[in-house]
Amino acid sequence: MATTQSKSSESANITVLLEEKQVYKPSPAFAKSAHVKSFSALQSLRRQALKSPEKFWDKAARDLDWIKPWKKTLEWKPPFAKWFVGGKLNLSANCLDRHLDGPRRNKAALIWEGEPGEVRTLTYLQLHYEVCRFANALKHLGVRSGERVCIYMPMVPEAAIAMLACARIGAVHSVVFGGFSAESLRDRIHDAQAKIVVTADGGWRRGAVVKLKDAVDEALKDCKSVEHVVVLKRTGQEIGWTQGRDHWWNEAVAGQSAVCPPEPLDSEHPLFILYTSGSTGKPKGVLHTTGGYLVQAALTTKWVFDLREDDTFWCTADVGWVTGHTYVVYGPLANGATSLMYEGGPLHPTPDRFWSMIARHRVSVFYTAPTAIRTFMRLGPEYPKRHDLTSLRLLGTVGEPINPEAWRWYRTVIGGQRCPIVDTWWQTETGGILITPLPGATPTKPGSATLPFPGIDADVVDKQGKPVPPGSGGFLVIRKPWPGMLRTIHGDPERYKSQYFSQIPGIYFTGDGARKDKDGYFWVLGRIDDVLNVAGHRLSTMEIESALVSHPSVAESAVVARPDEMLGQAVVAFVTLQKSASPSPELKEELRGHVAKMIGPIAKPAEIRFTDSLPKTRSGKIMRRLLREVAAGQGVRGDVTTLEDFAVLAKLQQSEDE
Ligand code: PRX
Repeated sequence: MATTQSKSSESANITVLLEEKQVYKPSPAFAKSAHVKSFSALQSLRRQALKSPEKFWDKAARDLDWIKPWKKTLEWKPPFAKWFVGGKLNLSANCLDRHLDGPRRNKAALIWEGEPGEVRTLTYLQLHYEVCRFANALKHLGVRSGERVCIYMPMVPEAAIAMLACARIGAVHSVVFGGFSAESLRDRIHDAQAKIVVTADGGWRRGAVVKLKDAVDEALKDCKSVEHVVVLKRTGQEIGWTQGRDHWWNEAVAGQSAVCPPEPLDSEHPLFILYTSGSTGKPKGVLHTTGGYLVQAALTTKWVFDLREDDTFWCTADVGWVTGHTYVVYGPLANGATSLMYEGGPLHPTPDRFWSMIARHRVSVFYTAPTAIRTFMRLGPEYPKRHDLTSLRLLGTVGEPINPEAWRWYRTVIGGQRCPIVDTWWQTETGGILITPLPGATPTKPGSATLPFPGIDADVVDKQGKPVPPGSGGFLVIRKPWPGMLRTIHGDPERYKSQYFSQIPGIYFTGDGARKDKDGYFWVLGRIDDVLNVAGHRLSTMEIESALVSHPSVAESAVVARPDEMLGQAVVAFVTLQKSASPSPELKEELRGHVAKMIGPIAKPAEIRFTDSLPKTRSGKIMRRLLREVAAGQGVRGDVTTLEDFAVLAKLQQSEDE
């Protein structure tokens, strides 16, 4: 059955063309041993939790180790929430120390595979040892509770070790994705006023070295807050060195004691800042705190991925994104699970790398992005067919809507028709999964993230905050606070208020459009703000526009998305040049390279189109809808460098858009 969803997204004016009708029920065999065993059990949990969310989360929090119990489950002074008020805990102790007394002490906590093929396993005991020593090294370098540590690392165990070490001593980590440029890194270090940067000489990606230390050196030319840089030796190439400031990781930990008592931290102690794109040019430092975040991470990992003691869980996200924070590191480790971590490209050295890894490590739960699934689908079933994938029992997706065709391919070719699929909706801001099936309980419909997790009050509403009828498009909102929610935007509480709680006063505004069907299932349609979702990565149109405008040849630019079969969305940039510049294919390439330099290769426009003016309303607003239509209608037009003239089109559209 062919299905399409279409969105027209200037407002909540979302139209949905066809509806996916097929329903997949959990198999009785899976349901029998699942944490939540039936739809009726789930619905009853959801009903109770909706009536009294605090009671639900209070119970969930009791699964963790608290140094001091909390006095109040929730203090909600809209839009500011505090969870488990008065409680004290340590997140690294919850992820490590509490597993050391029983049979988990010698269980693999992290299994890591480097892109060149080496494998390292760290048991809970070994990971604890490394974390304690690195925590002491950080203290030795002068890091105190509450201070910020920037982590700019490849996907290596030391990235997780650094995160857990920060959590152990109460330092706040800000992980910056290794694919971001020196400029992006500089902005993030500067905004967080980080005192230390933890990095590596480089990391492996598609057979090449990503030169992380070079980028750090570049970024630090302008960052006065940074006192020390810790450098892990990974790729071994020559790097620059600033005596006194730079320290090799192995030297920094040499001689450090493996005894580092976990700091008792307030439940609301800041845990991390993670920068994400919003609808303005400046990335937002989303701030998460300790207790609530951990409760959300731990419970969602346990229920959504239905974790069992003998699972090998592989979430393919990089720790530079929130998915890597919650479902590579904190969620799995809080549950005493085995988490697989992979450094490199999914198709390297051959397109069957992932399937070979699943077979070799006997992965049982696999969590990846729709864009990856679509890529594998295009490459054909022969690659997964080369490997034994029978260890898999559950599949997950995250990051963007999954088209039903890819969903079914995933189920059939990867899951052998036996693995349930959990399509999980959430955001950097939500800390953990909010809308999702539970695999032993929820009948799934391809393309739908199904129902809110217990304790989550999600809805689809119009501009006034009124629920829209089933089948109609609207804004996806969360009515009540939840433990894993962001607490603020670092250094900018006003932006926190206006971004998330002002469109519909007092209610969390996700920035996504969605609809509910007659069964109450949620169908997320994508962003309704100026945020793009390219291959599951969040980018801001404004950020790319300002990168383009910072080039001396560019006068003005407007960036929009066009649908892309592989990436979900592709970046199309309309560019007006300075009088002194003339359009040429070389300039297009230069501009693409400029965006990569300013933000990172993920933000490179797929297409640049020169225009002598941008279509604007009489009040001067760029008519993005028109540009989106133009971008979508034409597809990639080769390298035509002629100028486009929007004047006529703009006049035609003007009355409609004003
Ligand atoms: O538009 C939604 C989309 O990704 C956005 C959040 O991006 P980010 O903060 O980078 O976090 C990504 C990983 C949690 C959302 O606003 N999104 C995420 N998951 C889904 C999704 N869209 C549809 N279905 C999903 N399962």
